Amino acid sequence: MTESDGASTSQKIIRYHEETKHHYDRYARSAGHMDWDNQPNPFRFYENTSALGLPFLQNDPPARFTDLFRRNHNPPRELKLDDIAGFLELSLGLSAWKAAGASRWSLRINPSSGNLHPTEAHLIVPGANGLEGGVYHYNPLLHALEQRAVVSETVREDLTTHFGGPGFMIGFSSIFWRESWKYGERAFRYCNHDVGHALAAVSFAANLFGWKVTYLSGLSDQDMQTMLGFDKIRFQALEEEHPELMGWVNPRTSPDIPRSLSPTIISAFTQIAFKGDPNSLSRQPVNWEIIYQAAKLTRKTKTAAPPRQPAQSYELRQDNIDRAAAEIIRQRRSATAFDRKGSVTREQFLSILDKTLPRPDCAPFDAELGEPLLHLLLFVHRVEGLSPGLYFLIRNPKALDPVKRLTRSNFEWESIEENFPLFRLETGDFRQQAMMVSCHQDIAGDSAFSLGMIAAFKDPVTSNPFVYRQLFWESGMIGQVLYLAAEAHGVRGTGIGCFFDEAVHDILGLKDNQYQSLYHFTIGKPIDDPRLTTHPPYYHLKDR
Ligand SMILES: Cc1cc2nc3c(=O)[nH]c(=O)nc-3n(C[C@H](O)[C@H](O)[C@H](O)COP(=O)(O)O)c2cc1C
Repeated sequence: MTESDGASTSQKIIRYHEETKHHYDRYARSAGHMDWDNQPNPFRFYENTSALGLPFLQNDPPARFTDLFRRNHNPPRELKLDDIAGFLELSLGLSAWKAAGASRWSLRINPSSGNLHPTEAHLIVPGANGLEGGVYHYNPLLHALEQRAVVSETVREDLTTHFGGPGFMIGFSSIFWRESWKYGERAFRYCNHDVGHALAAVSFAANLFGWKVTYLSGLSDQDMQTMLGFDKIRFQALEEEHPELMGWVNPRTSPDIPRSLSPTIISAFTQIAFKGDPNSLSRQPVNWEIIYQAAKLTRKTKTAAPPRQPAQSYELRQDNIDRAAAEIIRQRRSATAFDRKGSVTREQFLSILDKTLPRPDCAPFDAELGEPLLHLLLFVHRVEGLSPGLYFLIRNPKALDPVKRLTRSNFEWESIEENFPLFRLETGDFRQQAMMVSCHQDIAGDSAFSLGMIAAFKDPVTSNPFVYRQLFWESGMIGQVLYLAAEAHGVRGTGIGCFFDEAVHDILGLKDNQYQSLYHFTIGKPIDDPRLTTHPPYYHLKDR
C-alpha cells in the first residue's frame, strides 16, 4: 500500500484490511519474535505535572448485574471527585496483578489484545465538586489524574451551557507502537478493538453512577487533537497518542445532548497552555508504516447529523442473577483454557446473546456509535437444550435479507425462539473448525460456544473510510458485553483477534467483501492456571 498510487482512500483502507488477513499458510506481517528488551511500557506518565491520587471506592455502587444495561434503577449521582474516581476505577483501573516466578504483570478492568494496552484516557472536566476544571490524563497504575492543563472559566461555562448541564468529557487515544511491537501490521485492527472495549467499559461504569456516556460523533480527529493538546506535546517519534473518540459523560437527567461542539469552544483550546512531558515508552520504536497510513486513511472529519439507532423491538431478557454489577466488572478475566465438558444452558446462552443487542436506552450501545453493523456467527458446541451447530444472531433487522442472500443457499435459517433474532444455519460438530479458523487456538473449540463477529463491510467503508475504525470499535463493545455477561453466568470469555479471515468467510459461503469477520470470541467453563499467583490491584499503593 503506497500513498502515491491512484487508488481511492476507501480502496486503500480495504487493501490494508486484505494485507493484514491471516491465512492458513501465511500470517500477517509482524516481527515474528518478541524483542523483550524493547517492549513498550504499558503505562504512560505525563511527567512534570501534578498527579492527583484518586480515592478508592469504599463501597461499590449497589447496582445489580441487569443494572449494567438498563438505566432506571441507578439514581443519577452528582458529579464529584469521589464518584469520578470510582467511575475510573471500575472502567479503566487495574483489576489485579499476576505473578509467575520472577515475572509480575498487571491486568486491567478493560481487556487488551496481548495485555499491551494501547488505549490512553483523558478527561476534560469543566469543574466538579473537589476537582478543578482542567484537562487530565488518567494514570491507571497510580489511579491518579495528571493535570495537563487548566481550563479557563469562560470555556468551563461554555461547555456546561453547550451540553445543557454538568458533565465531563472522556477522550481515548491509541499508541499504535505498543501493539505493533507484538502484532506488526495487524495491530491497527487490535488498537481499534481495544478502543471499543474501553468505550463499553466506561459506558457500563457510568451507568452504575446514574451517568450516561454519549459518543460525540460530530468531532473530527483534529478537534480532539486540539482539545487534548496533542499538537503542543513533544512525543518521542512513534510514541504519539492518536485521537480516537470522545464522549460526554453526564447525569441522565440532562435532556438530549448535542453530538458536537461549537468552533468557538474548540478553538478556545488552542489558547490553553498544556504541560507535561510524556515518558519514553521503549528504547527503539519500530516504524510499522502501514499502520500510520491506515490511521491517515481513516481520519475522521467533522460530521453534522447525529447518527440514530433503529429502535430495537426485543425486550431486555430478565435474568435471575442477583450479583453486584461492580463485583462482575472487577472479576472479569480472559480464560486461557476451558474444561471440554463445560456447558451453558439454553437460557444462559440466550441471555448472554441478548445483552449484545443494541437498544435505545440500554448501556453500552446507547452511546450511539452509529447504526449497528455487526452480527454474530455462532459455533455452538455445548449448549444444553440446543443442538450443536452453526447459528446466526442478527443485531440489526435490516441485515437479515442481505446476509441470507450472500451466504450458503442450503442454510436452514430456522428461528430458535419467537421474538429473538437467532437462527440455526446448520447442525453439526463445529469444534474442530472453530478451533482451526481461530489460529488453531484450543479455546475456540473447547468452549461451550465461540463466535465470529460478521460486519457489513464493503459499502459502509467505501462510503466513509473512517467507518473502518468504527466497525472495530463496535466489535470491541460487543466483546466487552460478552465478557461481563459470561462472568455473570459463572462462565468466562476470551476475545480472539487471531483468526484466519477467509476460512471464516468460507464457512458462511461469502464470496466477496460485502461482509467480513472482524473479531472472534469464545465462552466456556474456565480452567485456572495453578502456576499463577494473584495480588490485589492496588497492593503496590498500600499506603494510600
Ligand atoms: C482485541 C483482543 C484480542 C484478543 N485476542 C486473543 C487471542 O487471539 N487469543 C487469546 O488467547 N487471547 C486473546 N485476547 C485476550 C487478551 O490476551 C487478554 O485480554 C489480556 O491478556 C488481558 O487479560 P485479561 O483479559 O484477563 O484482563 C484478546 C483480547 C482482546 C481485547
